[in-house]
Amino acid sequence: MRVSLELLWAEVDLSAIRHNVRALKAWVGPRVEVAAVVKANGYGHGAVPASQAALEAGASRLAVGWVAEGSALRQGGITAPILVMGYSLPEDAPAIVYYDLTPTVCSRDMALALSDACQVQGKEIPIHVKVDTGMGRFGLLPEEVVGFLKEVARLPGLRLEGLWTHFATADEGDKSYARRQFALYQEVLREVEAAGFAIPLRHAANSGAALDLPETHLDMVRCGIAIYGLYPSAEVSRPVSLRPALTLKGRVGHVRTLPAGFSISYGRTFTTSRPTRVALVPIGYGDGYHRLHSNRGAVLIRGRRAPILGRVCMDQCVVDVTDIPGVRDGDEVVIIGRQGDEVITAEEVAAWADTIHYEVVTGLTSRVLRVYRGAESTLPARPGA
Ligand SMILES: Cc1ncc(COP(=O)(O)O)c(C=O)c1O
Repeated sequence: MRVSLELLWAEVDLSAIRHNVRALKAWVGPRVEVAAVVKANGYGHGAVPASQAALEAGASRLAVGWVAEGSALRQGGITAPILVMGYSLPEDAPAIVYYDLTPTVCSRDMALALSDACQVQGKEIPIHVKVDTGMGRFGLLPEEVVGFLKEVARLPGLRLEGLWTHFATADEGDKSYARRQFALYQEVLREVEAAGFAIPLRHAANSGAALDLPETHLDMVRCGIAIYGLYPSAEVSRPVSLRPALTLKGRVGHVRTLPAGFSISYGRTFTTSRPTRVALVPIGYGDGYHRLHSNRGAVLIRGRRAPILGRVCMDQCVVDVTDIPGVRDGDEVVIIGRQGDEVITAEEVAAWADTIHYEVVTGLTSRVLRVYRGAESTLPARPGA
C-alpha cells in the first residue's frame, strides 16, 4: 500500500529554473550558449527534471561530472549534448561513445580508447580538452596543450570541439587571480590557433564568472548554482534576479510540553530551563541535514522561527515551539525556504554548519522525496529517489 502522507519533501519549482536560465541567457546575450550544470543530481534538485526545465528555457547543453551521470540522463530521455567535465577512464570509452557523451580528454590513453571505441561503433564524437590555468585539479598544463592536440588530431573518430578552463576564485570579491587565469587561457587559445586548430566552443565561466566577469563569457558559460536560483556567494554581484527553486518542507509531529530540567536528544547537550513546548521535525543527517545544526539551527512553523534543541539525529530533530502559539501535529514546517514573512535560505543553513549552500542542496539524500511544481513536460513519478 502506498504511503499517503510524506513527512518530508523538497518542492522543486521548475518554473524558477526556467526563469533563472532565461535571466542568465538574457544577461550573457544571444551569441553565448548556456550549459546547465546538472551534476550531483542537478545540485540535489533532480537531474532529469532540472535538465528538462533548463533546456526548455534555452540552455543548449548540459554538463555533468562523470560518465555515469551522463548515461543516466540519456536513460532519462535527455537528448541534448552532455559535456562530461571530470576525468573518465579508458574502460568507459565504449559507454561514452554509445551514449553520445562529450568527454573532456586530457590523456593520451583516454584519447586512444575513445578513438578505438568510435571505430568499433562506427561513430565520431566531439571532445573537449581542458587546460589547467591554476585550479590545480584536472587538465593539461598550458605548455602541454598544443602537443596534445597534435596527437589527438591524428586519431580517427575524435572531433575537437572545445578547449576550456575553470576558475578557482570567480566567486570571490577579489578577481585578480581569476583574471590571471583568464589571461593564461587566452594565451593558450592564441597558441592553439597559431598551430592551426579551430576551437568552436571556448568556455571558462561558471556562475561566478558568468555574473561578475562578462569578458570571460566567450562561446559558452557553464552555470550550475545560478540555474537553481542561488548566487555563488555574497561577494558576487547580482546583475540578474534569480529565484531559488528548492523549498524543503515537512510536517511536525509529537508536539508536547517537557518540564524544566529535561535534557533533549543524544549526548544531553541541551536541558530545558522552563516548561518547554517541543515538536519533532522529520529531518536528520540521514537526509543530509547536518549534525552541526544541533543547538544552532532553526526551522519555520506558522511563519515563526523554532530553534533546534539538542543534537540533530539521523531521522529527526527537536525544536522549541514554546513561543509559537497553536502548533499542532501535522503542521507544515519549512526547513529551507519561505513561510509567511520569514525565510531560511540555503546560505543561512550552510552557515550553521560552516559550509557553503552548494553542499546544503547537493547533500539532500535520496530519502527526501522531490516534488515538482511548474512542470512543462511529463516527469517521472519519483525522480531522484
Ligand atoms: C568545471 C565546472 N564548471 C562549472 C561548474 C558550475 O559552477 P557553479 O555552480 O558555481 O556555476 C562547476 C561546478 O562545480 C564545475 O566543476
